[in-house]
Amino acid sequence: MEKKRITIAVDGYSSCGKSTFAKQIAEHLNYLYIDSGAMYRAVTLALIRAGITSIDDANENQLQNLLSNIEVGLANIPNKSGWFTTLNGEIVEDKIRSLEVSNMVSPVSTIPLVRKKMTQLQQEMGKKKGTVMDGRDIGTVVFPDAELKIFMTADPVVRAKRRLKEMEQKGQKATLDEVLMNIEERDYIDQNRAIAPLRQAEDAIVLDNSHMTVEEQMVWFKKIIEDIL
Ligand code: DC
Repeated sequence: MEKKRITIAVDGYSSCGKSTFAKQIAEHLNYLYIDSGAMYRAVTLALIRAGITSIDDANENQLQNLLSNIEVGLANIPNKSGWFTTLNGEIVEDKIRSLEVSNMVSPVSTIPLVRKKMTQLQQEMGKKKGTVMDGRDIGTVVFPDAELKIFMTADPVVRAKRRLKEMEQKGQKATLDEVLMNIEERDYIDQNRAIAPLRQAEDAIVLDNSHMTVEEQMVWFKKIIEDIL
């Protein structure tokens, strides 16, 4: 019998491994994976390119103008698996992971105009069942009717250590304290913004992966999805 296709929302704190997990479950189910954080990052890159380096510098008109002139999307590259984030047709997957973008993305994602545009776009992109989308407000705002909602969390120090390791592998230098501070700051902004703050949907299942490997997470997921599909 053909298995039913559903929408899966994966929300949670920064550096919890949401993207790794969401990508893996999409692959396992042969679903489309959409990284909503990458979309906020692409908008942030567009703002930086327009010379806006602090959200206090951006006025409503300028933002309105900029937002109506940018197109964020996904592209498939021949011979490479997965989808890549685009900004006005340019693949920006690497550029949106820079420190400059990372440091500005949380404040940018508090801007109501930005959230409105991204939410509409995400709803459009994930309209077809068979989608896994990860972010902060997917189960609460973007897809409140998602059939499966997972809320990911992990101890902040564990997250900082994982993030530091990732940065070191890329040749980026930072101390554990600096990374921890950045994580705590992002958690604070994400949880306390006025629109669509990060919070656990009432019907979400919590996945605390502080002491779990990526493989153990998948075992956990397979048990859950078996009951749903
Ligand atoms: O998942 P990430 O770290 O790439 O997300 C970058 C930022 O984007 C994060 O600090 C908060 C914001 N974001 C959001 O506000 N809503 C989402 N659905 C996804 C991300």
